[in-house]
Formats: sequence, structure tokens, C-alpha cells
Amino acid sequence: MRRQIVAGNWKMNTTPAQGVELIKNVAAQKKQAKESVELITGVPYTHICCVSEIAKENGIAIAAQNCADKASGAFTGEISAEMLASLGVQYVILGHSERREYYGETSKTLNDKIKLVYDNNMAPIFCIGEKLEEREAEKHFDVCRAQIEEVVFNLTAAQFEKLIVAYEPVWAIGTGKTASAEQAEEIHEFIRKVLAEKFGAAAEKTPILYGGSCKPSNAEEIFSKANVDGGLIGGAALVAEDFVGIAKAF
Ligand code: 13P
Repeated sequence: MRRQIVAGNWKMNTTPAQGVELIKNVAAQKKQAKESVELITGVPYTHICCVSEIAKENGIAIAAQNCADKASGAFTGEISAEMLASLGVQYVILGHSERREYYGETSKTLNDKIKLVYDNNMAPIFCIGEKLEEREAEKHFDVCRAQIEEVVFNLTAAQFEKLIVAYEPVWAIGTGKTASAEQAEEIHEFIRKVLAEKFGAAAEKTPILYGGSCKPSNAEEIFSKANVDGGLIGGAALVAEDFVGIAKAF
């Protein structure tokens, strides 16, 4: 039995005060979901200190949404993996399509970042996924394979054991268009097969999350698929009832 995970990605939303309210509301409703479902919230850097205690008390893990590709030094405006780990952050979302598209994130920088995440005893939530034109050209398998091979294949077996993968088709993010449960299962199964080419049986244990317009109304069907182990949730993570509603889908 694999881990079941519902992770929120708040992106650049909420003030710290609003974030505290949101996490309190999630904590208050969390019991409605099965205890075995792990909840993670990916908060803006500025919120980590304010939400971490409430999160910890309520068994909610904290993720950062990015980290620097350097360990420390003269890199104005950057936040290091060490800084995040020292605040109790357990996960770092890496390779989100918004970072790839708007901030020029490449596999080169992702290799540097993922190493620093592991060096600081955190675990990556590594995002992959194709754009609309790539799906239409039926290149989605090739795109996902390349994104995995260029970064994940460089991990050691011990690092791989801690990895969480998130498949987020870019055409489904924030658009209201969700991949069908069948589309999600087809590519999740493929992703697991690619992971197994390098890491063998360990890939059976890797949580592969679906992300892209996931809501309480569609989560149950998507999560019912054999290779879908939960979700990475954007918009719906900003409403406690919806986020917990998605966790209840298990
Ligand atoms: P939405 O759930 O808003 O489509 O966002 C998904 C996402 O990008 C999570 O990282």
C-alpha cells in the first residue's frame, strides 16, 4: 500500500494572517478525512514561521514552493534549502510548470536544487507535465520521460525512496480543465514504469500525485485509479472545505 498524500500549493496567494486563518481552518476540519491521508501545505516563504507551529500540532507537513540552487552566499533575494529546513519545512516543491515557464527553471538548476533539498534532509515534490500543444501532438509521454530522466535519474537509490512526483499537465492548471481519470491513470502508470527502469521495485512505492483543477467533485474518481496516490492542489487549497473535501475523497 502506497502513501496517500494531498498537498496544497498556495502559490503567491494570501497574506501571512490569511494563511494562519486558512491553516487553522484546515486543521479544524482535518479529522473528516482518514487519518492515513497525509496533508502537506505548500506555503509562501513569508508564511512559514507563522503557520509552522499550528501545522506541526495538527500533523500537517509544510512544503516550500521553491528554493535556491546555491547553498549560501551573495545571491540577493534567494532562500536556501538550509534556511527552509531550519524552520521545520519538510518538503520543497521543485520544477513546477509556473517556475519552468515564468522563471526559466531548467533541469540543470533543478539538479542543483534537488541535491540541496536532500542535503538538508527534506524531500522534493518534483513536478512534471506537458503543455497543451505537446499533448495535442501526442508528445506527453516523451516530455514526461525527459523531465524524469534529466533529474530523477541522477538520484541515488536512498534519495529516490523519499521522492514524491507530481504529474501536472500544464493545460489543466488553473484552467478548470481536468485530465480525465483515465488520462491521469494512463500517464501515471507510464511515469511509474519509467521510474522502475532506473530504480526497479522501489518505484512501486513512489507516491505520484495528480495536479490540475483537482476539486472535491472530481478527486474521488481520479484518486480511485491504481497509480494515482493523491493530488497537488492549487486553487482548491485556498478554501479549507475544498482542500479537506479533496482529502476526504480517499
Ligand atoms: P490548480 O489546482 O489551481 O489547477 O493548480 C494546480 C497546481 O498547479 C498545483 O501545483
